[in-house]
Amino acid sequence: MKIKRIKIVGTGFYVPDKILTNQDLEKMVDTSDEWIVTRTGIRERHIASEEQATSDLAAEAARRALQDAGLTAEEVDLILVATSTPDTIFPSTACRVQHSLGADHVPAFDLSAGCTGFLYGMIVAEGLILNGPARRVLLIGAELLTKITNWEDRSTCVLFGDGAGAVILEESQDDSGMLSAYWGADGSLGELLILPGGGTRIPASHDSVDQKLHYLQMKGNEVFKHAVKRMGEAAVEALKIAGLKKKDVDFLVPHQANIRIIDATGQRLKLPPERVYTNIQRYGNISVASIPVAIHELKESGQLKKGDILVFVAFGAGFTWAAVVYRW
Ligand code: ACO
Repeated sequence: MKIKRIKIVGTGFYVPDKILTNQDLEKMVDTSDEWIVTRTGIRERHIASEEQATSDLAAEAARRALQDAGLTAEEVDLILVATSTPDTIFPSTACRVQHSLGADHVPAFDLSAGCTGFLYGMIVAEGLILNGPARRVLLIGAELLTKITNWEDRSTCVLFGDGAGAVILEESQDDSGMLSAYWGADGSLGELLILPGGGTRIPASHDSVDQKLHYLQMKGNEVFKHAVKRMGEAAVEALKIAGLKKKDVDFLVPHQANIRIIDATGQRLKLPPERVYTNIQRYGNISVASIPVAIHELKESGQLKKGDILVFVAFGAGFTWAAVVYRW
């Protein structure tokens, strides 16, 4: 019996034009290019304009993915936007993207799983495609973290950038596609990476703004330890489920939060650096957009051969983590 699986039939991404370099940041906070490069791997990041919101980035990435797949927006059955920085709490960013694309009446909703949202989205899309409700899913990871960044906090403001990546998913007609997935969460650690204000726990008020609770807060070194552990574990577990070994992996495509986390995950899989895709140097941490952007770039680089085994792995706010094993 043929095993049913989903595959990526189109990819695209968008990052804003404006670039903020480490040298620019040296003029804004007490930091240095040397500290940022050695501690994180980041050299520059793209920053949205004042007028842009998350759905603008998402819609542009989606247009490019649709074009890549040779499809129109009406030909998708579901629009799923993974984001932690929606345009508004409601309506959803996905509904705004649907309107922007002119995808009349196509169902649309947001998914919130921090930086892991794109992989959670793949797992959700797999269930929906293989069980019937959607034949073709437009999955977008879009984040505009620079609007929830405290630009006076050097421990976070050097890390993030803005961007969106999109893929079109449908049932595979051959043996390529998603082979396995492993996912998890630990809500007890949520306070280590949080946007405290503006929700129903701490509604927006003069006081919440005075206390800067509308900005992202992170205990970076704590998050770091959990990220290293969970990303390595998730990748190993997903390979086991797929019945594959570390030596079978052709490319690791990890969430791009910190070059040291990426290196540690690559080492856990015993992969040489050229088998670990990185773009954190150019974009910083673009959260949920980092994996779809990396998939698009890796595809366009011409390095991928049919049949290559890829491992996508992420960790993020929640905490959440996931890995997907994929045959190209
Ligand atoms: N420039 C110069 N010095 C700095 C800066 C900066 N930008 N930021 C912090 N420092 C200082 C600190 O004040 C501290 O100084 P002290 O020793 O005098 O107190 C020192 O550098 C070390 O600080 P740490 O926080 O321990 O540095 P660390 O090596 O852990 O690096 C970092 C910090 C880059 C944030 C790292 O911990 C990290 O990448 N964490 C993980 C982030 C992550 O994975 N996030 C998950 C996903 S993100 C999402 O979901 C949106």
